[in-house]
Amino acid sequence: MHKVKGVVVRAKNEPATLETVLVPDPGPGEALVDVLTCGVCQTDLHYKVGGVGDDFPYLLGHEAAGVVSAVGEGVTEVEVGDHVILNWRAVCGECRACRRGEPWYCFNTHNATQKMTLEDGTELEPALGIGAFAEKTLVAAGQCTKIETPLQDEQYAAVGLLGCGVTAGIGAALNTGAVKRGESVAVIGCGGVGTAAVAGAALAGATTIIAVDVDDEKLETAQRLGATHVINSRSTDAVEGIRELTHGNGADLVIDAVGVPDTFMQAFQARDLAGRMVLVGVPNPGTVAEIPLDEVFSHGGSIKSAWYGDTLPSRDFPMLVDQYVLGRLDLDAFVSERIGLAQVDEAFETMKSGKVLRSVVEVSR
Ligand SMILES: NC(=O)c1ccc[n+]([C@@H]2O[C@H](COP(=O)([O-])OP(=O)(O)OC[C@H]3O[C@@H](n4cnc5c(N)ncnc54)[C@H](O)[C@@H]3O)[C@@H](O)[C@H]2O)c1
Ligand SMILES: [Zn+2]
Ligand SMILES: [Zn+2]
Repeated sequence: MHKVKGVVVRAKNEPATLETVLVPDPGPGEALVDVLTCGVCQTDLHYKVGGVGDDFPYLLGHEAAGVVSAVGEGVTEVEVGDHVILNWRAVCGECRACRRGEPWYCFNTHNATQKMTLEDGTELEPALGIGAFAEKTLVAAGQCTKIETPLQDEQYAAVGLLGCGVTAGIGAALNTGAVKRGESVAVIGCGGVGTAAVAGAALAGATTIIAVDVDDEKLETAQRLGATHVINSRSTDAVEGIRELTHGNGADLVIDAVGVPDTFMQAFQARDLAGRMVLVGVPNPGTVAEIPLDEVFSHGGSIKSAWYGDTLPSRDFPMLVDQYVLGRLDLDAFVSERIGLAQVDEAFETMKSGKVLRSVVEVSR
């Protein structure tokens, strides 16, 4: 048993506070990880405000890089000393998605079996089965994806972000949206996820990449990551703007990285005939959009959603780390500030201000 500091929310809308957390030694199939860095994601805030469920207390944090410090019986995926990115898709290999060869849809992903607790024994629910705003965390070994490429210490903050939002965005373009060289792609909402989708479109060779947001600063960063055009949809109609930049046709692919009815409809209307749209922003429960069915039919193409960017961590994380090291994917651009574990609650406020892509906790700070 290890006694560490971790960021916990005890009840709906309570502040996220630094608490003593008891982390068990790994049992069969589990790994204990010394956390190096962990990004603050919109989803952590969703947990805090009760938007994910009512299983308080939550141990927050899930966009992490770390070092494996112990493994349980039967673990073959990783060994002690391995540098890893934590993922929330440790695939089971047995569900109907895995059996039909589509493990990125796995319906039965693995987490640690043992629970981390507070000092009084209260069981903690780790965010996305990870709980990495802590000095150590316990996960299923399959949640650890080994980083084979040597990195400098300060690069882990950027690479850890591949554990969630950045991968969701890149995957929405590369996997779900299947961007091809020469295509036109529009991304609506350029926070961490949307900007990553812009970077994914650039990696895939799209030649027209249109970033849409309501905030000019976000649009500037999107340009740094590969956007060829920007639209501030407060002042310009997003659909007309996208059509104008694509010879009046609409984009081959439009990605909605916000997930509200307005942006969904913009994405729906701003695609070319037979064009694709991908929803990667997570709508609040109960959100309803009214779509004219005749247009769904006559427009052709596809409407898909991207869970975690249809990412298979074992396949995609090492490839993306290599793109970063080769200088083709500027993950450093996503690290807006580096903070300590005690500053997570403040980071939620900074996030709401819209001024950052990611605040990243460095546990040693
Ligand atoms: N699908 C997945 O697996 C997955 C994974 C992680 C996060 N997400 C979701 O992706 C979404 C984006 O996450 P994020 O971390 O980038 O959030 P964020 O808050 O950093 O970014 C949202 C961006 O959208 C912009 N925006 C808001 N309303 C807009 C509008 N009407 N038109 C255009 N732009 C608008 C904001 O200015 C901001 O730049 C969230 O819903 C999040 O929960 C999905
Ligand atoms: Zn499965
Ligand atoms: Zn996340």
